[in-house]
This record gives sequence, C-alpha cells and structure tokens, in this order.
Amino acid sequence: METNDTQISGFSRRGALRLLGAGVGAAGLGALGLAQPATAAPLPAVVPAVNDTGFWKKVEQMFVLDKRILYMNVGTVGSPPRQVLDVVDAVHRQVARDAEASYSDFADVRQVIATAHGVDKDEIVITHNTSDGMSKALLGLNLREDDEILTTNHEHGGGNTPMALLQDRQGVVIKRVELPIGDEQTAEDYVELFRAGITSRTKLIMFSAPTYLTGTMLPIRELAVLAQEHGITTLVDGAHIPGMMNYNFRELGVDFLAASAAKWQCAPGGTGILYIRNRITAANPNPLPEFWPIVSSGYPTNGSVDLRHRDPSQDIGKYLQSVGNGTKALNAGVQKAVEVWNEIGRQRIQDHVVGLGDYAKEQIIERWGIDALYSAKSDQRLTCALTGFNPFQNPADVKDATKSSEFVARLLDEYRVEIRNTAVPVIGDSALHRPVRVSTHLFHQQEHVDRMIDAAWKLSKLMA
Ligand SMILES: Cc1ncc(COP(=O)(O)O)c(C=O)c1O
Repeated sequence: METNDTQISGFSRRGALRLLGAGVGAAGLGALGLAQPATAAPLPAVVPAVNDTGFWKKVEQMFVLDKRILYMNVGTVGSPPRQVLDVVDAVHRQVARDAEASYSDFADVRQVIATAHGVDKDEIVITHNTSDGMSKALLGLNLREDDEILTTNHEHGGGNTPMALLQDRQGVVIKRVELPIGDEQTAEDYVELFRAGITSRTKLIMFSAPTYLTGTMLPIRELAVLAQEHGITTLVDGAHIPGMMNYNFRELGVDFLAASAAKWQCAPGGTGILYIRNRITAANPNPLPEFWPIVSSGYPTNGSVDLRHRDPSQDIGKYLQSVGNGTKALNAGVQKAVEVWNEIGRQRIQDHVVGLGDYAKEQIIERWGIDALYSAKSDQRLTCALTGFNPFQNPADVKDATKSSEFVARLLDEYRVEIRNTAVPVIGDSALHRPVRVSTHLFHQQEHVDRMIDAAWKLSKLMA
C-alpha cells in the first residue's frame, strides 16, 4: 500500500511541531475571493501567466498547511483549502442539527465532478478513495476462470488486492508487463510492451497512470486505443489524476478510471472519484462492457435492468452511488474542491504543477546526473507532477531500504522537507530500489523546488 513501504523512522511530525512551538495563524482568508463560499468572487478577467509568482502565492494562502514544513508528499495525501474546510464544517453541523439522513445519489455533486472531467453524471461515482474505486471496478466486471488481466509490475495495493481476489476466487490469470524506469522510453515503447502481452484471453488491461513508484505517466490514450483494437476493456488506476492533470475522461477513451479526490484534488480525506464509461463515442466506439454495481442499495430489484447488455439508459453511476445513508458533508467538500479548481483553472494548474515537476527533474539531472532519475522526462506525454529520483551520492545506496528511509526521515527532521520513498522492482535487478518521490503542487513555486533540491543535495553529501 502507499504507506506500507514508507518508513519515516525516528521522527514524529507532531513531535517536531511541538518542538517548534505554536500553530500558524489563519493568513489569507479571502485570497483570490475564494475563501468564503457566500462571497466567492470570480478571478480577475486577465488570466495571470502560469509562472506569475504573485498569483501562486495567493493560491498558497488558501491552504492551512503548516508553513514551517515544506510539504511535498501530495501523492500520498493533499490538504483541503480553507473553503473546503468551511463547507464541510458547515454541512456537518447542519446535518447534525437537523438529524438529517442522506439517502441520496448525490446527483448534484456528481454533475459538478462530471462536468469538470468532460463526462456525464451517470458515469461518475463518489467513492471512498482510489482503492474503493478499483475494487468496485474490478469486482464488478464479468471476469471468469482463465480470463487474463494484463497489468504491470508497478501497481499499487489498491489494484493488486482486488486482482488477487479475482485470481484466488475466480481463477482469473494476472499477467504483468515489466516496466522500465528512467528517461529512456517513449509512449510508443509502452504501447509495444503491452501489445506483446496481449493474448486471445486478455479481457482487461489495467495500469496506473502515473505509477506511484516512479511517477511516470503511462500513455493512457495510446493504451486505450490499443485495447480497443483488441476488444479489451481498460481500467486506469488514476489515483493522481484529478486535481493534477486536466484530463477529459471521455477523450481518454478508457472504460474505467478510479481516482482519489483527497490527493491532488485536495478534497476531504476518504473521498474518491470513479469514472465508468456509459457512452459509445468516437473516443471509444466499443460496446459498453458487462458491469455490475457490487455495492448498492439502489439497483432495481424488479428485474427491469440487464447489465449483461449495457446501454447508456442504465444509470450505472446512480446504482453504485446509492448505498444507504451517505456522507453529505464530505461530498459537499468534494464539490467545493472541484469548484475551487475550476475557478483557478484546471489547465493552469496542470501547467504549473507539471512545469514545477519538469523544473525539479532538470535540477536533479544537473546535480545527480540523468541516471538518478526514475521518472520519465524527455517524452512530455510521460511526465507529470510526481518526480522519483535516487538521492544518493553512491548510486548503489538506492537499494538500501534503511538508508532510504533514513534519508526521508532526516530530510523532514533536519530540513523540514516532507517527501516519501518507494520500493521499485527494476528489470535485471533482484533487489528493490528505494528512490525518493517528490510532489509539486499548486501551493508550490520554483523557490520551493530549489529548497527541496538544496536540502536533498546537502543531506546526500552528509550521508555519503
Ligand atoms: C497509484 C495509486 N493507486 C492507489 C492508491 C491508493 O489511493 P487511495 O488512498 O486513494 O485508495 C495510491 C496512493 O496511495 C496510488 O498512488
């Protein structure tokens, strides 16, 4: 799982905060006109340039993140802006005051999410997180004994676990493409890797984009086209996509995309987004795959629906969304987070966060050399705001799990920079590699990347 292989040993973040003294003041309420829902004003008509530091400094003020720590682990969890916190708090209180039940399919919230990602509300489910969405997608498909899932060796437990259930319970066969690391491949190389793994039994192609281990963005559209050519269903573990990349889910042409809302989208913890294609379009003209809502109290029980033969009139999103009493406050928080991102501009955010990721990669290459990079860089289709690299002066130290965890802990303890490490299977090496992973988000600017790079460089010298 995401946190399993991150050992921030010998350091308690709370302990450090106590050591440092009192909390941070509530600066920035009202910045960008985004702080108070009732008075939210549109952004100025003149759109500031992507690298306008004044603009991004104002964005930074929308967040309550402790300023004494440079937080660069958004890939594990984001931080809701004040506006989201306010809405969640207000709705929680209103629900408590009125003892209000929420037997709802949350159509309004799903509509807002759907519009932001270029799809329709019957194609969107608000989940608990990526793992929840992955389970609902994988276990809802009609996969049987000897059917094959083609996936990768860089998948997260949120996808690996339901795949293992399918294997152990139903005899589904899991085949894995071994992914390369670093900057030597193009999008086409990934397509060829997957093409070589397809057989007449392949029913599903499942992959993470980006992978959580290296931060390389697998080419979603290209792999979707490959799958379509073979009549294969696609599921993307897109944990990191909402709030980072301005992707139109429809145009990607995939069948399913499970994601977090609490990472880059900075919605409340315990929220996620699942996209289920419910349209036949040019981007994916194949029939809708058989799919069942495995958790539901809203699926018609009168035999009126046959999901073996799906068509767009079957409201698949509603069936999966309607499950007993729901969480109105958290869902209102998701809606607000999506609206705040819309207001700032999703493409502007993508340009900013990926631009900072590119900058981080350049700095890493300059100091440590190209071989230190675990993420792709040259092919822009493969880059995103996650950056994985080997921070050690002696490259072989990247295989030392203890040293890697110590690096992460000391970076936080001694330099107040919070990142994480990962455990990456590498082709041709029996030992796992433990690079570090950095997230660049909308509350960061170039100076933050510089600070992280300087700290990592100094620490790598100390640990040489
Ligand atoms: C690629 C990937 N998939 C799944 C997950 C699990 O995410 P969640 O906590 O939203 O279930 C993560 C992150 O932790 C991830 O990076």
